[in-house]
Amino acid sequence: MTTDSIEQLLIEGVQELYYTEQQLVDSLGTLSEETSIQAASHAFADHREATEQQVQRLEQVFEALGEEPEAREDIVVTAMLDEHRQFSGENDGEVLDRYNMAVGQKTEHYEIAAYGNLASLAEKTGNDEAADLLVETLREEQDALDQLTEASEQFDEQQIASD
Ligand SMILES: [Fe+2]
Repeated sequence: MTTDSIEQLLIEGVQELYYTEQQLVDSLGTLSEETSIQAASHAFADHREATEQQVQRLEQVFEALGEEPEAREDIVVTAMLDEHRQFSGENDGEVLDRYNMAVGQKTEHYEIAAYGNLASLAEKTGNDEAADLLVETLREEQDALDQLTEASEQFDEQQIASD
């Protein structure tokens, strides 16, 4: 299937994020439960709540674009979550904790790139309301990334340096 316009590229991107955020609501709950480092576990739990709002905000983005909400699989996200499922089935303890912090940061970086691009496309195609909504979520993703980065740096300093 070809994507025949920039407007269509924007809509497909929003559909992929709609899929991504729905998947992440579940995954962030799992990450919070299986991570024993408190700062990271809290960051995952907080971001899970924010992600539920982000799903609803994307529904507002669809409305602003005059589209019905529709999820479109993002295979990169599917692959990242599959890899996490496999890793967490085979590992535990501090290795799993540290892996989970990295997975969280990877998904945030990925979402930041996606939201940043779509906000720009929305703005340039005259969809200001959609652009504002996308920027709002972009800020939340950046906050989540900052929290996880701080938790992982603290872990590296305290756990690895003391081994
Ligand atoms: Fe998100």
